Amino acid sequence: MSETNRFQIANLGKPNYKSPLQLSTVRGDHIFNFVKESDKLVFDLSLDSYASCLSNGEEPQCLEKAGPRQDIFFKPEDTTAAIVTCGGLCPGINNVIRGVVMALHYFYGIKRIIGIPYGYEGLNPEMGHELIELTPDKVKDIHQFGGTFLGSSRGGQDVSTMVDTLESNHVNMLFAIGGDGTLKGVDAIGEEIKKRSADISVVGIPKTIDNDIDLIDESFGFETAFDVASPIIRDAHNEAAGAFNGISIVKLMGRDSGFIAASAALAMPVVNFVLIPEMDFQLEGELGFLGVLKKRLQQKKHAVIVVAEGAGQQLFEDQNRVQDASGNIKHADIGIFLKDKIKEYFTETPVTIKYIDPSYIVRSAPANSSDSVYCSRLAYHAVHGAMAGKTQFVSCKVNNKFVYIPIKEVTKKRKKIDLESEFWFSVLQSTGQPFLLK
Ligand code: F6P
Repeated sequence: MSETNRFQIANLGKPNYKSPLQLSTVRGDHIFNFVKESDKLVFDLSLDSYASCLSNGEEPQCLEKAGPRQDIFFKPEDTTAAIVTCGGLCPGINNVIRGVVMALHYFYGIKRIIGIPYGYEGLNPEMGHELIELTPDKVKDIHQFGGTFLGSSRGGQDVSTMVDTLESNHVNMLFAIGGDGTLKGVDAIGEEIKKRSADISVVGIPKTIDNDIDLIDESFGFETAFDVASPIIRDAHNEAAGAFNGISIVKLMGRDSGFIAASAALAMPVVNFVLIPEMDFQLEGELGFLGVLKKRLQQKKHAVIVVAEGAGQQLFEDQNRVQDASGNIKHADIGIFLKDKIKEYFTETPVTIKYIDPSYIVRSAPANSSDSVYCSRLAYHAVHGAMAGKTQFVSCKVNNKFVYIPIKEVTKKRKKIDLESEFWFSVLQSTGQPFLLK
């Protein structure tokens, strides 16, 4: 009948304790209900997929609904939790730390919460970073600030050493806030824990301004990042429009996925070209970027270009790239390259080029209101899942519902903009640029 559900969440064992949460199990009493293990949500909402399941007699792939369970695995008074933040900064990290601490302490009565300093380095005693005791009082104001209260670092550490540290500190649950590398890292920690038959739950809370975590609706902090970028684009437009043949180039973060550039351009719809890593564009030729830019200047006398940092890498002669500590390829600087190429191309035509690179500014800001809401809810759901003994999962939103997904499913590949999607089409409708620039 049905093939196995790829979204089945691993569990440490039978949940033998009653939740201390005073929730309901019936509708109509105006009290929130515990979430049952049988509460599932269909993953693929398309009619085609539903019809194919029907005709094959298969159960559709389903996601576990996030939320508090009536039976929990950990006895709160004997439980220690730890939180680690890894990778590049992202708006909302402190909101998530705060939310996890508050939920553990106030909802479940967990009193021992450890902050792991400077990412996975903090789980390697040889690095000499001291563990931080986290209390509601210590974290109550941190949501007001960008960055991470715990500090971060890129790259992994020896998995066995990290699990030794968790065991020697009697940690029962580890919350890892990070992107693809961090999530793979915490999953590897989960595998080592499984080998040792230790009762430690590992939970990921996906964080990246690039929004490149697969399957989930959005990673937290992404919205704030393009929110910060959009007034910069507004002002770049003022600069461009204020000069004859004015050209503003704004380079935005986005290593291999162009979501920030595309969303910022939609949010501030004065952009005429968005160049993203997913597209393969040419500079030369009538249909190439420079030729189309020339036509735009002839018609409108100004242009705004938003380029994602990972765009146009195929244009560089030198294809040798180094990797950062997380194993990500460090790209050549497309912003400066474009600026130079535009300058070279317009030798006969007078142009004024303004180059703007807000760089890290888009990711070090505190979360906006919408991301703040999202961060708190992700944090609460992460805690409920961990308390139920679930492990190697992420707390996330899919099809606008909070769910748990196995870490392995979201780290199989990175999410990228589909050039045939309605989203990218709407970006092109907004900018007026052609489908292809080649
Ligand atoms: O975290 C994602 C990101 O901000 C990317 O957009 C960017 O390419 C990269 O991190 C920069 O990393 P680092 O902090 O190592 O300079």
